[in-house]
Amino acid sequence: MGYVVTDKCIKCKYQDCVTVCPVNCFYHGEVMLVIHPDECIDCGACEPVCTAQAIIFGDTSEGQVWLDLNLNYSNTWPNITRKGETPADADSYKKLEGKYEKYFSENPGTPVR
Ligand code: SF4
Ligand code: F3S
Repeated sequence: MGYVVTDKCIKCKYQDCVTVCPVNCFYHGEVMLVIHPDECIDCGACEPVCTAQAIIFGDTSEGQVWLDLNLNYSNTWPNITRKGETPADADSYKKLEGKYEKYFSENPGTPVR
C-alpha cells in the first residue's frame, strides 16, 4: 500500500521528504511531489519531516482519495532523490484549503541540479 502525498504539498514542496526516503520513491511534479505507492516500503520516515503535513498512510479514508493521483503521476513524473530549492512563497500556501482544485498541475518538475 504505502504512504501517499496529499494536496497539502501543492505549492509548498519543501522536499525534506526526499532526503530521508531509503528507497528513493518520490516523483517530481511542477507544484508537488508524489510517492510511488508500490515502491514505498512503509518505513514512515518521511511523514514527520514534512512541515506541511502532506504525507499520510495510503490505507486510510483520506489516503484513498490521493492514492490514484500518486500512482498515476509516479509513473509519468521524473524520480527525485535530492532536495531542490523550496519555493520562496511556500509558507504562504501551507494552510490553504482546496489547493488541488486551484493549483494542481500535470506538468513534470524541472530536474534538481
Ligand atoms: Fe520513502 Fe519511507 Fe516515506 Fe515510503 S514511508 S515514501 S519508503 S520515506
Ligand atoms: Fe511536499 Fe512535504 Fe515533501 S511539502 S515535497 S511532501 S516535505
